[in-house]
Amino acid sequence: MIPAMRPVIVAGNWKMHTTPHDAGELAVTIARRTHEPDVVRVLCPPYVCLAPVRDALAADPAGQDVGVGAQNVHDHLAGAYTGEVSAPMLRGLATWVIVGHSERRRDAHETDEHINAKVRRALEEGLRVILCVGEQLDEREDGHAETVVDRQIRRDLEGVELSHQRAAEGTWLTVAYEPVWAIGTGRTARGDDAARMAGTIRAALGDLGLPGGGDLTPVLYGGSVTSASIDEFLAEPSIDGALVGGASLKPDEMAGIVARAALTARARREATPPG
Ligand code: 13P
Repeated sequence: MIPAMRPVIVAGNWKMHTTPHDAGELAVTIARRTHEPDVVRVLCPPYVCLAPVRDALAADPAGQDVGVGAQNVHDHLAGAYTGEVSAPMLRGLATWVIVGHSERRRDAHETDEHINAKVRRALEEGLRVILCVGEQLDEREDGHAETVVDRQIRRDLEGVELSHQRAAEGTWLTVAYEPVWAIGTGRTARGDDAARMAGTIRAALGDLGLPGGGDLTPVLYGGSVTSASIDEFLAEPSIDGALVGGASLKPDEMAGIVARAALTARARREATPPG
């Protein structure tokens, strides 16, 4: 595997935090503190903050290459779905979208079937998808973590087609491995566990026929990532960055995380043969 083929990505999931009043300023502060051209940066605020974040980033020189993402999307284009937001509605507001976050699997009872439909729709509508997968604590303790994640990948992505060209662009599909027991708990997985899971994820992507056998698909780690814990994950060549929750609301933390990610990105670039 040649990790240099894959980008290094730091995405912030702001979850249900910030308001339209303060989100733009926070986004710009983070953009200025994380100005690293080698790292793909993405901020995913709540729906109502997408426009202020987009506008604030566009107006600041440090913000113009920061991607904006939604935290969810509906699988239908339009219809009688009170409170929902479709992919066409996100056009011009977001270029990325998180799909299948464990908090939505838990709270909105999203099934792998729903998630599969959302991934297809989001890709059809030109969004870059960050698909979240991860096991529960009891599943890990019972030794089933890899089986669970393998099943999620196969069900969530079955029938999803990604042309070689889109895949080669690097970020149409990103998988975030987020062990549920590590989210918001201060407890992280070990780097080598995350790396092993990245192997499981890429093997499943290969079986599904994704271009490059999954080697072209970035795999991120998520779950209590901070500037202190990111190193363990980025030391693993199979991990391509992080999906950051709580720490993504703190500019100091994001500065540390992205600075560490930039070291990995530069090392990968230097390891790539020219041409
Ligand atoms: P925390 O970083 O707060 O644990 O959240 C992780 C997460 O769920 C990112 O999507």
